[in-house]
Amino acid sequence: MEKKQLHNMIDIHAHILPGVDDGARSVEEACELVKASMAAGVTAMIATPHYSRRRGTEGYEEVFQELKDTLKREYPEFQIYLGHETYYHEGLHERLKEGNAFTLAGSRYVLVEFDNGVSYQTINRAIRHLITSGYLPILAHMERYHCLREKKYLDNLLSSGCYLQMNYESLEGHWFQSEVRRCRNLVKEGTIDFLGTDLHRVDYRPPEIGKAMEWLEKHVDADVIRRITYENAQCVIQNKIIS
Ligand SMILES: [Fe+2]
Repeated sequence: MEKKQLHNMIDIHAHILPGVDDGARSVEEACELVKASMAAGVTAMIATPHYSRRRGTEGYEEVFQELKDTLKREYPEFQIYLGHETYYHEGLHERLKEGNAFTLAGSRYVLVEFDNGVSYQTINRAIRHLITSGYLPILAHMERYHCLREKKYLDNLLSSGCYLQMNYESLEGHWFQSEVRRCRNLVKEGTIDFLGTDLHRVDYRPPEIGKAMEWLEKHVDADVIRRITYENAQCVIQNKIIS
């Protein structure tokens, strides 16, 4: 097999914005996480703090600007954008329209999560509602939702226009672990649109993607790797439709 090169990656799922959720606790910790991400090949990132209805977007722009300014001094080549990992609820599309919840990097793409045990009917209704409201939903860590183990439901969701994000971490492990095998098969089949770190803290889900990349480089076509680690994310940042 042809030798594959380490290439640039863009991370669309990262709890890097300091002090606003269960992610980075300080600008210093955020810088540590960026440093580790860069060592793994990540060149750009969308900050996706958990959306909180109580907090809304209060103060986020200021915290983001401070982080961005610090990163510009420390790692001038690194690009960072603002977004949210939204939690679906009635009225989310209105909050997005009002700017009280963030899309990814100001695009039409919305990273959305649900409870792990959500019913397929709820996900389906929510995704269709976001689409008819003019958004492009990306389902965060899709591997966690029990209902999507049913192939017919997953196929149905894909045909509605929903994009799927999986965590790199879910590809780590052994072939005899059924959950790892399922995730790897989804990547191999081309079902997944984005891989993300979902990084939180230096001591809780740091951006360790080496093992996942090792598996990818051995088993997945280089074009597919490039698409799910870089090109599709670039389309998000540029607000372009993924072909
Ligand atoms: Fe997350």
